[in-house]
Amino acid sequence: MLAEKYAERIEKVFAKYPTKRSAVMPLLYIAQEEYGYVNLEGIEEVAALCELDPTQVKSIAGFYTMYRERPKGKHWLHICTDLACALRGADQFYEDVLHELKLDHDHDTTDDGMFTVEHVMCLGACDRAPMLQCNFHFHENLDMDKMRDLIAKWRAEKS
Ligand code: FES
Repeated sequence: MLAEKYAERIEKVFAKYPTKRSAVMPLLYIAQEEYGYVNLEGIEEVAALCELDPTQVKSIAGFYTMYRERPKGKHWLHICTDLACALRGADQFYEDVLHELKLDHDHDTTDDGMFTVEHVMCLGACDRAPMLQCNFHFHENLDMDKMRDLIAKWRAEKS
């Protein structure tokens, strides 16, 4: 499926590298984009494209945190809990967001598939904490009132 659907993109990726196996990481991004996470099908397809064994591709995907092992929600929330943000209450904010969304653990996704929450290291907005990134857009100087408004807005976009 990837080979047909993304043929042009894949050719461009291969053109950047001396060997097919060197293109494994950018091709894993394409698989993740297609399936929402790096699933077994994507691993096998990337392995075939790169002429590698699927176990080699799986070990690469498992090593790097930017490859997701599970499906993510429509709104992927990265909450920075690194030192500067922690000094401005980010740890409690992160816990409160998990509680608000009825999630138990980091990387969990809500039952309706709307939200996945992860805590992350510095996102470069240290003076505007608590902050989060939702689908690569920053939201800064947050508190739980603002967060509840954002959650309600995102939920309303569902329909
Ligand atoms: Fe959180 Fe830098 S420490 S954005």
